[in-house]
Amino acid sequence: MAELQSVDHVKARLGEVGYLADEPAALVSYLAAQLGKPILVEGPAGVGKTELAKALSRATDRRLIRLQCYEGLDEAKALYEWNYRKQLLRIQTEAQDAGWETVKEDIFGEEFLLERPLLTAISAKDPVVLLIDEIDKTDQEFEAMLLELLSDFQISIPELGVIEARSRPIVVLTSNNSRELTEALKRRCLYLWLDYPDAEREHEIVRLHAPDLPDAVARRLVEVVHMVRNLDLKKPPSIAESIDWARALLLLGAEDVDESMLQHTMSIIVKHRTDLDMVAERVGVKLTDGLIGRQSA
Ligand SMILES: Nc1ncnc2c1ncn2[C@@H]1O[C@H](COP(=O)(O)OP(=O)(O)O)[C@@H](O)[C@H]1O
Ligand SMILES: [Mg+2]
Repeated sequence: MAELQSVDHVKARLGEVGYLADEPAALVSYLAAQLGKPILVEGPAGVGKTELAKALSRATDRRLIRLQCYEGLDEAKALYEWNYRKQLLRIQTEAQDAGWETVKEDIFGEEFLLERPLLTAISAKDPVVLLIDEIDKTDQEFEAMLLELLSDFQISIPELGVIEARSRPIVVLTSNNSRELTEALKRRCLYLWLDYPDAEREHEIVRLHAPDLPDAVARRLVEVVHMVRNLDLKKPPSIAESIDWARALLLLGAEDVDESMLQHTMSIIVKHRTDLDMVAERVGVKLTDGLIGRQSA
């Protein structure tokens, strides 16, 4: 099991497994692992929140256990469920000779428990990375249910008692900020705000994901993406879109990001009708006039 020894070490390890963390991300990851506190990562879509958890799992050689949140997610899907069929079978085979009291003892044992991600993470023998993805999609009751887990690393099952963590997981919660999370939840976590990266880091990320793209094209691409982000769009392009665009430009053998290339491929980075119009108008013109990027091309 790879341990994380210092902030620089975290940064280096994450880099080795393909995640270029900035200073705050490396610092919070290090502290979370050392202090045994969950990380709450917030930020716009596509800036590397989910990937940070995946990268931490690769960097520490820990298994990744993922709970994808959605509206209406409940304990039965997140924590555990009783295996009714199996319980029923046991009741049927035992009922004739044994009394109800004996059967009841039997059917609420671990054997009849169906583990869901949170219980799996808690009861794993080797420490894991637990990703609770897009927590803002659930409701406040669900958050409240998580509190016991996040502060004490245990789960109470009425029929069985308290199940304590055998090992302490690294917990990463992500949120797209679609609703304000409760203070109680935030208090238990270390907070990391991930934003769009600066041009230098984004260039490195693009190079990492599309190493064969000529460097000059990668630089231009990042410049254009940053210009597009500065417009007042419904949905600005994220790192995920920059990477997709880089791969597309590579496939198309692009040697430059000029106006015509932008016109043909901008639907990879902008996905609203009105946004497309705005980009064509505002960025397209600048590319034609050679107002950006020439010095670095
Ligand atoms: N710092 C980074 N280093 C390397 N790749 C990154 C980084 N940040 C984002 N990515 C890439 O960007 C894409 C989107 O990231 P993701 O974690 O899915 O975004 P989010 O969960 O914030 O919506 C992924 O393909 C990921 O590999
Ligand atoms: Mg995500």
